[in-house]
Amino acid sequence: MAEIMPQARIIGTGSSIPKRILSNRDLESIVDTTDEWITRRTGIKERRISSKEGGESTADLTTQASLRAIEMAGISPKSLDMIVVGTVTPDRQFPSAACMVQKALNADNAAAFDLSAGCTGFLYALSVAENAIRSGTCGTALVAGVDRLSTILNWRDRATCVLLGDGAGAVVVASTTEKDGILSTHLKSDGTLWELLYSSYGNSYIPEIVQSIDIKPFQLQMDGNRLFKRAVGCLSTIAKEALQHNSLSSEDIELLVPHQANMRIIQAMAKNLRVPMEKVYTNIHRYGNTSSASIPIALDEANREGLLRKGDNVLLVGFGAGLTWGASVVRWSI
Ligand code: ACO
Repeated sequence: MAEIMPQARIIGTGSSIPKRILSNRDLESIVDTTDEWITRRTGIKERRISSKEGGESTADLTTQASLRAIEMAGISPKSLDMIVVGTVTPDRQFPSAACMVQKALNADNAAAFDLSAGCTGFLYALSVAENAIRSGTCGTALVAGVDRLSTILNWRDRATCVLLGDGAGAVVVASTTEKDGILSTHLKSDGTLWELLYSSYGNSYIPEIVQSIDIKPFQLQMDGNRLFKRAVGCLSTIAKEALQHNSLSSEDIELLVPHQANMRIIQAMAKNLRVPMEKVYTNIHRYGNTSSASIPIALDEANREGLLRKGDNVLLVGFGAGLTWGASVVRWSI
């Protein structure tokens, strides 16, 4: 008798957003910008900025999001075999944010690690958990996307600081023999384009720390215009590939949950895919671009707002630094 391959199912979602709101109007007093420009060019009205002192470190936000996902899943943290966190802003270079979350959750049976794939970090992390479950080496996994890009922004650069915000989202993924859950995940990267979005400081510059006292660490650098065009093309192509792989058409998708980088990118991609905007979940007006966290936050909000029913086909698509991009088709099972 043929062995039934386990599938990976999302059984709980959660998110955590910092309390402090920074509106476009607030930004007008920080850089030379206007609410009108930001709204028209990006769709963003406000974003959240974390405070480490206020229990909003990368590990804190991830733990809060994870606890909500775990509560919905109805599992014990002890049953987690794996914790994978997609982030480019862990609280420390090491240990990983995932290990700090493991400690906070008392999830002592899990292997915990971070993964860096820019804003596509959550989809990359989801793919790791999905494949570990499919291979039978993992039964239940916690997958999180978290970033606090406010900590690495150049707050004098109006072209970037208006776009980004902080937050965390998480899902619990568990093994099932049903034919639903994560149908497939598709990942791509192109390192030749790394200079379109990067942090201008890192391990390779350590000797300069010794030589210089005027260090401006981790400032985010972005070529927004070129990224914009790439994002629309890459997101549309990978989304089509994911649909085709599962013999689905865009009409079969009940909800598209894209990375929330720019409303105009989301609209252009939806148009390319022929998915009406009523079927596209957006919260960019409230949070801006939260990097790795944007897809799991949006997925959690859509789930808690009752927009997802068991059996619905959900398409997740993301794009970010690396460059990296990816898509996942999920048959909703909660
Ligand atoms: N307020 C007012 N004016 C501004 C601002 C601002 N905040 N930022 C830029 N401008 C000005 C520019 O200086 C420029 O002025 P100029 O014409 O006098 O030179 C003008 O606005 C137009 O600038 P562009 O960069 O051409 O504006 P564009 O329409 O491309 O919008 C934006 C810029 C919003 C950054 C857009 O390119 C974008 O969203 N790109 C993609 C970003 C992205 O996806 N990033 C992340 C992907 S990965 C991740 O999520 C981390």
